[in-house]
Amino acid sequence: MISSLVKNFKIYRFNPHFNSKPYQETFKLDLNKCGPMVLDALLKIKSEIDSTLSFRRSCREGICGSCAMNINGVNTLACLCEIPKDNSELVINPLPHMYVIKDLVTDMTNFYQQYKSIKPYLIQDKENKPKENSENIQSKEERAYLRDMDKCILCACCSTSCPSYWWNSDKYLGPAVLMQANRWVKDTRDDAKKERLDALRDPFSLYRCHTIMNCTKTCPKGLNPGKAVADLKIELSKQ
Ligand code: SF4
Ligand code: F3S
Ligand code: FES
Repeated sequence: MISSLVKNFKIYRFNPHFNSKPYQETFKLDLNKCGPMVLDALLKIKSEIDSTLSFRRSCREGICGSCAMNINGVNTLACLCEIPKDNSELVINPLPHMYVIKDLVTDMTNFYQQYKSIKPYLIQDKENKPKENSENIQSKEERAYLRDMDKCILCACCSTSCPSYWWNSDKYLGPAVLMQANRWVKDTRDDAKKERLDALRDPFSLYRCHTIMNCTKTCPKGLNPGKAVADLKIELSKQ
């Protein structure tokens, strides 16, 4: 018979409807009766111990970006984060410096509005648009300019790990959104490069990045938003 391996999960709780302060609640789980990932533990707690525990999730495989949270001090995706197989406590908080709607669910409104502000879609002059039913092709070399920037799942782990974003998220766009701005600036089919760069030409939108690099360190998809922001500064300096 397999002996039990009990682990404490200390989870941030907050319910604005009860008009109470946030607090930490500890749940005990036997790891031998739970799936291997932190999201498995959260789902087990919700289905077997406390159905009021709130968190976002969808794909369970690092694609949708919705299960982003702070686990033992690191912003990451709960579905990609393996539970350490020991009896140390695991501390789970919402993404830092975000308004909390309930428990681990944060308000992403500002983040998505910032994403919308950079016009995250291809803008082409009429004469450059492909003819009907033909592909909007790029060469392999042109495609390489985009590197891995289009693999971003907009989880916001990077932006919410950036101290500049913590203090100026009303005006600084943050690494996730800036990497997407760079993704469109670098797209050789796009005709709005100048307009895109001009929109960043102020003291806050881009230049609040001080190359702290927490963003790249924390990205659960192994991307490099810090470098993308640096590339964008270089592009802007050439204009
Ligand atoms: Fe998430 Fe990485 Fe994209 Fe940032 S760059 S939003 S951490 S996937
Ligand atoms: Fe922040 Fe990353 Fe720049 S952590 S300061 S966006 S390099
Ligand atoms: Fe989709 Fe974790 S549930 S990324």
